[in-house]
This record gives sequence, C-alpha cells and structure tokens, in this order.
Amino acid sequence: MNKPAFRWILRLMKEMNTEIACIKLGNVHVIPVTSPEIGCEFLKKQDAIFASRPLTMASEHLSRGYLSVATAPWGDRWKRMRRVMAYEVLGPARLKWLVNKRVEEADNLVRYLYNQCRSSRDGDGAVVNVRVAARQYSGNVIRKMMFNQRYFGIGRNDGGPGVEEQEHVEGIFTELSVLYAFCVSDYMPGLRWLDLDGHEKIVKKAIKVVNKYHEPIIDERIKKWRSGADGRVRKEPEDLLDILISVQDTDGKPLLTPEEIKAEAAELMFTTVDNPSNAVEWAMAEMLNQPEVLKKAVEELDSVVGRERLVQESDFHRLNYIKACVREAFRLHPVAPFNVPHMSTADSTVAGYFIPKGSHVILSRIGLGRNPKVWDDPLRFNPERHLMDGSAEVDLGERDLRFISFSTGRRGCIGAPLGSAMTVMLLARLLQGFTWSVPEGESMIDLTESTHDLFLAKPLCANASPRMPSHLYPKI
Ligand code: HEM
Repeated sequence: MNKPAFRWILRLMKEMNTEIACIKLGNVHVIPVTSPEIGCEFLKKQDAIFASRPLTMASEHLSRGYLSVATAPWGDRWKRMRRVMAYEVLGPARLKWLVNKRVEEADNLVRYLYNQCRSSRDGDGAVVNVRVAARQYSGNVIRKMMFNQRYFGIGRNDGGPGVEEQEHVEGIFTELSVLYAFCVSDYMPGLRWLDLDGHEKIVKKAIKVVNKYHEPIIDERIKKWRSGADGRVRKEPEDLLDILISVQDTDGKPLLTPEEIKAEAAELMFTTVDNPSNAVEWAMAEMLNQPEVLKKAVEELDSVVGRERLVQESDFHRLNYIKACVREAFRLHPVAPFNVPHMSTADSTVAGYFIPKGSHVILSRIGLGRNPKVWDDPLRFNPERHLMDGSAEVDLGERDLRFISFSTGRRGCIGAPLGSAMTVMLLARLLQGFTWSVPEGESMIDLTESTHDLFLAKPLCANASPRMPSHLYPKI
C-alpha cells in the first residue's frame, strides 16, 4: 500500500538508526543494507552463501523460466551461462571485435543531435531531449552489437529513433520497472493468480512488445546457422547473436538452445540500456547547474583529444575527469534503489546477526552512495572526490561497495567493460560535440527526483549548439 517500497524501507532504517534491517514480507526475510562493511561481508566474505537469486514473477517471465545469467539461481545452469557470457560473448577480444559497431552508434548520436541543431529556427542551436538521445544511443549500441542493425523498421534519415525503436526501448524500461519491484506474489506465492499490484499484466504486455522485435530475427538467424534454410549454412559470425547461436560444447554441439538464446539476447538488452543512459542524463543535469564542472570536463576533452577529431575509446584512459563525473553519477544517482537481490542458500551469521537460509539481501544503492558516514556532503555532485589520488586512473568499479556501480563477487556485473565504455563515450561525445546551456527562460535545471523511481522527475531538456568544425559531424 505504501509505495514505492524502497522509500519506506530507507525511512524505516533511518528512524531505527540502523545500517542493516530484517523485514518480514510474507514468508521471506528481506535484508536491506546501507553500510559498505556489512555489504562486503555479504558479497565478498560470505559470497558463496549469498550467490543465488530469488525466484520472482517478473524475473521468471523475463528470462523464460530463469534461463538467463542474471536471473538464474545458483547452480549448474548459472555457471554454464555465466562462463559463456563472460568469455565468449563479453570477453575483451569480443569487445574489441565489435568496437566499430559502437563507434558507428557514437557517431550516429552526434549526427542526430547535430541534425536537430541544424533544423532549428536559427540553424545553430536547439533544445534537445537528452533522455531520448541517451536512451536511444544505448539501445542503438546493443541492437547493433546484437543484431547488427540500428533500426527494426525503415528508421529515420536524421539518425533519430523510428517508432519501432521508441517502442522497443520503452518496452525494456517498462520491464525493468517491475523487475525485483516488491511484487506481492513474490512473498506470498499463493496470491499470484490475483496479480494484486498488476505487475504481471504490465510485464507480460511489455515482454510481448520486446519479443515482437527480437523473435523473428533470432528464429531466422538460427535457421541460417543450423539448417542452412536459404541453401547456405552461415559460418562467419558478424554480431553477438551469431556468437550466441554458434558457441559449441566440447562435442561440437550447439551449447545454447533457442530458448536460452532468446532469454540471453533479451537480458543483454535490459542490462545495457538503463544504467548508461540514466547516469549520463543525471551527470549532464548536475553539470549544467555547476558550470565550473562542465567547463573542466570540456577542457579535459580539448586537451586530450583536441578539436580535430571525435573522441574514441582509445582516449578513455586519459579522460579521468570525465570518468570521475560518470562515477559520481553512479554514486549519487543510481538507476535502481537496490542492487539485484542476492538469496542465501544456507543459514549464516553476518555482522553478528543470524541470517536464515532463503533470505533476500538487498544492498541499498542510495543508502550506500548517499551514506553521510562514508561520503562528505553526500548530496552534492562533486566529481573531485574521485580524484583524490591525482596519479591513479579513475575506474568506474567500486569493489569496496561504498556505492554500487558494477557490484562485486560471484554475481558481480560481467558487462563492466562494455558498460563503462558506453557510458564514458556517451558523456564524452555529448560534451565534446556540443556547447550546453540551460534552456532560455529557465535559470537552473530542475533536479527533482521522481517520487516512484530514481529518474529525473522531468526528462532533461537542454540547449545544445555544435562546437566542433562542421566536417567532423558524421553525415550518414
Ligand atoms: C554502466 C553499465 C552497467 C552497470 C552500472 C551494471 C551494473 C550491474 C549490477 C549492479 C549488477 C548486479 C550485481 C550483483 O548482483 O551483485 C549487474 C549484473 C549483471 N550485469 Fe551489469 N551493469 C552494466 C552494464 C552491463 C552490460 C553492458 C551487460 C552485458 C551486456 C551487463 C550484464 C550483467 C549481467 C549478465 C549481470 C548478472 C550477473 C550474474 O547474476 O551472474 N551489465 N550489473
């Protein structure tokens, strides 16, 4: 009744002045945590006990019955899928192999915004919707890497999303909004048929939309690889879907079934689109309100990359300030209130508390990232706090769990290198390609957080005008 659940859980913990709690929801002990030390006890010291995932209504639907890595409970299937994903699909060599596809989409982002500026009344600057640009860039990158295509339909000449891509990305965000969202029947399974909070209806509808785009492509491609339906058997992989289809076991047989391929393809979409776009939308909003931060980031780009070419992934190791801005956005503005839940597979004692087998441990991403015992002036967007050691290269990971970016341990994110590359590229290209300002008539960007989730309450719209020589803006 008291929605959203994450707000009352955090309020309760604050009132009780505790960094760990136990809330009995139906039959389940839910353990929220806001302290890095206790978080590390769960995910590092006793990781083996807490490396499972709860079985929930939405994760079951989204993964076709827990066939994908992120949703699978601890066990052989998870181990097999995780190995395939970590080494075959998302390993360093594979990411290198697909770098051109990512660059194409980074170029397309710049082109899309440039076209908006050019078609404005004065032909120079325009108020652009950063949320749409950021979400579509993320969607484009993973569609290109997965299916080797940006558009499901005929697309658009200006580089923007067609109706199909809008629907696709919207479907993904809807699915994510109900994934691990305290659905009543996850704690009282007997009530599932009533769908009291309506989550099941929402998730089924959204899955239908996403599947409508994925399934025909995947079915067709499997035919090409496995039966040579068009007279030729496909042999050379061109994208991640080809990899998922062609990975083999030691006997040379396909390692993944069609259902597993579909579940994994969908999961790669969910895990890729939300974090980068949310972090960059927030970073841009915060930076627009602190022009000195914005200026420093642009100066770094000018000094490292210059104005004669667009920023590339090979520049990232020298873009510490930009990375500090991204890290700060992950800390202060996580995309979700809690880390993906971990479930314990045995009784244990953590931080002196007995934790029964089957408990759901949820590390609070806000509780950690905004913890005043850990962070000075925690609500201030201050990238400098990540540059204390001037010589060290800034990493977006946070293994000590002082905030959650990619988490840690057995269930830690396996897409960290890709997620980092996408997020840094998104922010760097926006800042390098355009001069940004608060739209006319507004004095500041409104940084109000949505009440029911952690997105900006209103999508960020800001004034952009091109700042690089015109020949650098991609034309096709
Ligand atoms: C900036 C981008 C990203 C962020 C911040 C992020 C963050 C996370 C977090 C917090 C978890 C949960 C870890 C835990 O349970 O303790 C996770 C899990 C996971 N992430 Fe990411 N992620 C990002 C991008 C990606 C990408 C691009 C992929 C793949 C294409 C990916 C694939 C996964 C998978 C498969 C898991 C589940 C691992 C498991 O349960 O064994 N992530 N991620």
